Amino acid sequence: MITASAPGKVYLFGEHAVVYGEPAVPCAIERRATVAVEERSDGRLRVEAEDLSLDGFTVEYGETAGESPDVDVSPDLVEAAVGYVDAAVAQAREAADAPEAGLDITIESEIPLGAGLGSSAAVTVAGIAAATRELGVELATTEVAERAYRAEHEVQEGQASRADTFCSATGGAVRVEGENCRSIDAPDLPFVIGFDGGAGNTGRLVSGVRELRERYPFAADTVGTVGDLVRQGERALVEGNVEELGTLMDFNHGLLSALGVSSRSLDRMVWAARDAGAYGAKLTGAGGGGCIVALDPTDETETALRFTPGCEEGFRAALDDQGVRVE
Ligand code: MEV
Repeated sequence: MITASAPGKVYLFGEHAVVYGEPAVPCAIERRATVAVEERSDGRLRVEAEDLSLDGFTVEYGETAGESPDVDVSPDLVEAAVGYVDAAVAQAREAADAPEAGLDITIESEIPLGAGLGSSAAVTVAGIAAATRELGVELATTEVAERAYRAEHEVQEGQASRADTFCSATGGAVRVEGENCRSIDAPDLPFVIGFDGGAGNTGRLVSGVRELRERYPFAADTVGTVGDLVRQGERALVEGNVEELGTLMDFNHGLLSALGVSSRSLDRMVWAARDAGAYGAKLTGAGGGGCIVALDPTDETETALRFTPGCEEGFRAALDDQGVRVE
């Protein structure tokens, strides 16, 4: 049996716009998904996921078209989770040239599902790394990242950037612009995360932005403005200018709101952080619900979030320099 883990992430800047070739800066955080894989001889897949911030579920299914998993939780959540696992397994089988391989897969995650912290990318990255090793092939980190991207791209019906998967595979802070992905230096930023207990549907949210962009030239300009903001943010990052990073995060949140991907609870948490004296705050990831990220070296934002209606959890998260690793 091989076990691998990979980190979740927050977006300092640039989600959604990155889908259209603008730059983005996601940062890996010290919350991980861990995937254990063991080969089985009967060609079947068994997926067990116990702590995905949803009720634990176990699914057992074969390769017969139309065979549906036997589970007792919401089909939407299962479909989402199983979709990523299936796509990761397909990538691992292809990489290992073992199209018929059966696998027992156990997933544990400290990253809430669909909440903007990169749970699906972390599960996909760790799953591909563990499954290929179990099947006797050791992939370079860049190939794990590329295959994880292809898996996400397929599940999200062609609407995915390389940002989440590259960041989870390499760890640290990264810059992604189209196919160009690289690690960048970043100070250990004082991230505070607020989680509303909910989730957004990435595919639907990305489609919503696409429709606005096609309908209104000024929405396309808004996406371009996010790109300008990210370029400015990169300079602030190099200078370690946390105050300016905060100002730009506030701006980025406003633009994401204009693009229709914020929500009442995300806005409430953003304002709670700002009122508590954070340098800045924004939603992170696809939006619609889930998490915000703020910059605050003091305890004020974390405390304020705990008392904010609609916020289920407020916690500090450190930058994780380590990407995917075999445990
Ligand atoms: C989702 O975590 C981030 C988005 O930019 C989609 C993507 O980059 O694939 C909304």
